[in-house]
Amino acid sequence: MGEIIAIASQKGGVGKTTTSVNLSASFAQLGYKTLLIDMDPQGSVATSFGYGRYDIRNGVLEMFTKDVPVQECIHPTEMDLFHFIPSNVWSDEVDKRSLMGAAAEFKLKNALAPIKNLYDYILIDCPPSLGNLTFNALIAADSLIVPIQCEYYALKALGRFLKMTRSLKTEYNPDLRYRGFLLTMVDTRNNLSKRVINKVRYTLQGLVFDTMIPRNIRLAEVPYYGKPAVMIDKNSKGAQSYLALAREILEQDARQDDTSKPNTESAAA
Ligand SMILES: Nc1ncnc2c1ncn2[C@@H]1O[C@H](COP(=O)(O)OP(=O)(O)O)[C@@H](O)[C@H]1O
Ligand SMILES: [Mg+2]
Repeated sequence: MGEIIAIASQKGGVGKTTTSVNLSASFAQLGYKTLLIDMDPQGSVATSFGYGRYDIRNGVLEMFTKDVPVQECIHPTEMDLFHFIPSNVWSDEVDKRSLMGAAAEFKLKNALAPIKNLYDYILIDCPPSLGNLTFNALIAADSLIVPIQCEYYALKALGRFLKMTRSLKTEYNPDLRYRGFLLTMVDTRNNLSKRVINKVRYTLQGLVFDTMIPRNIRLAEVPYYGKPAVMIDKNSKGAQSYLALAREILEQDARQDDTSKPNTESAAA
């Protein structure tokens, strides 16, 4: 059965898009059919695959405002097992209008229902806010990955995000669970990074992925080459770290299949 994973944080520049693109590509590289959905109106995902603004046909905008079926919004990438849905650039005004009315919170969840089981993993790249679009993504999602940039203020504002997720779970999506918090742009040679890593691991006890994403030029070059890091240079530290993250997630699933009653509830409590 397909799993929908939202990549979210209200902070910008923490590595949400980089994680969405490279983790999706890693799943595909490992043989899993993967779809990436861009919920950020800035539309950086399409750029990561070398698509220009005018190469895009339908995207999330058309799905939301014109009820274009999801199947008609899916775009191919150079990897057979990896597809994506672009956001299309749209204004705040459209964002607000398209997300009003009955069942607005469930727009994405309902739109994805016909294709959910055609993929092993569906990842959603969220915008840097706690607005309607992130809300839609978290209601559609089965699980959640929160990138945390390895810097001094890493945990600042996380409280608000956790609180919002808790109330969303209670009200709309009780089964939503944390896949994990992901440390990004890590430089382990640096003492400040080491202190931040220790603090994040201590504060979020057991919910932080073992895999950490290093600061790596190949990851920053993704939009430039229009290809995920696994396609630019599979052996780079950046590509290897996202492949390791994909394997860690697959191991979480294997462990869960082994236990008769998985205890993942406490994670998102
Ligand atoms: N691990 C990394 N190493 C080097 N640069 C990175 C890394 N992760 C992200 N970046 C760069 O940092 C910037 C912000 O990352 P991005 O993924 O766009 O964050 P977000 O989607 O959370 O706003 C981008 O320019 C991106 O290329
Ligand atoms: Mg982004």
